[in-house]
Amino acid sequence: MSSFTNDQFDLEDKTAVVIGATGELGGAIAEGLCRAGANTVIAGRNEEEGIQRAEEFSNPDGAGEALFQACDTTDRGDLQALVETSDAAFGQIDVWVNSAGVNSATPFFEIEEAEWDRIMNVNLKGVFLACQEVGRYLIDQDDGGSIINISSMAGMTPLSRVFTYSASKAGLINLSKNLAREWAPHDIRVNCIAPGFFPAEQNKEILSDERIADIMGHTPMNRFGEAEELVGTTLLLASETAGSFITGANIPVDGGYSSMTI
Ligand SMILES: NC(=O)c1ccc[n+]([C@@H]2O[C@H](COP(=O)([O-])OP(=O)(O)OC[C@H]3O[C@@H](n4cnc5c(N)ncnc54)[C@H](O)[C@@H]3O)[C@@H](O)[C@H]2O)c1
Repeated sequence: MSSFTNDQFDLEDKTAVVIGATGELGGAIAEGLCRAGANTVIAGRNEEEGIQRAEEFSNPDGAGEALFQACDTTDRGDLQALVETSDAAFGQIDVWVNSAGVNSATPFFEIEEAEWDRIMNVNLKGVFLACQEVGRYLIDQDDGGSIINISSMAGMTPLSRVFTYSASKAGLINLSKNLAREWAPHDIRVNCIAPGFFPAEQNKEILSDERIADIMGHTPMNRFGEAEELVGTTLLLASETAGSFITGANIPVDGGYSSMTI
């Protein structure tokens, strides 16, 4: 790597925390941050997977150290413990990624309140709680920071069949922009990455053959994304050099999906 590229994107001596890092996209994002040199906290609910990933990601090839910390993003106590553990292990937090998410395709009149609450709790309230906990920490630390929230195409234009999910992601984009405004004086940047369509656990039941055909018909690159294709945008937003003037953005990584009308 040229030293110029290194200066722009290197995360050596930084600390990154990724909630939902035991999932498909969060895992690739955490691995990318760790490989770029950041000490990385793999946070999520699946302990076995998390410990395994932490061992895998901490490879000797210039990567940072990785460790697993159990965390349910709807539980404020877990989030406080995540901040404390990350600080105790690595002495600081620089990058915080909210990637936990759940989805469900339910016809509107069949959505039960419990389902609405479950999706809203993880996708929106969970990020609200996480931002309160890490926001306080970053302001006290007084050294800036980068918060990256994983939004969705569904948060930009409503997506058929996923009413609650779409509303939660629209709220997430709005909240992120509001926090970007609020915390700019503290040099804390808050951005979203809006993935197009990537096969993962949370959407595999929704991806029927008919649905896949609709998605491909609306994706100029005519394919699904690969989780690793989110890493470049993550590093851009994480880096206080390359991403220094980017805040309040919602960056699509979508093979052109959000540029299409008919
Ligand atoms: N896959 C896609 O096409 C796509 C598109 C747009 C946005 N997204 C978003 O990307 C993010 C990652 O999703 P993914 O596609 O990798 O799915 P995934 O199901 O592989 O990962 C989601 C992760 O969130 C975790 N999670 C769920 N509830 C949690 C909670 N309460 N606390 C902590 N962790 C919890 C799950 O255990 C899982 O590890 C989500 O926010 C999702 O909405 C995904």
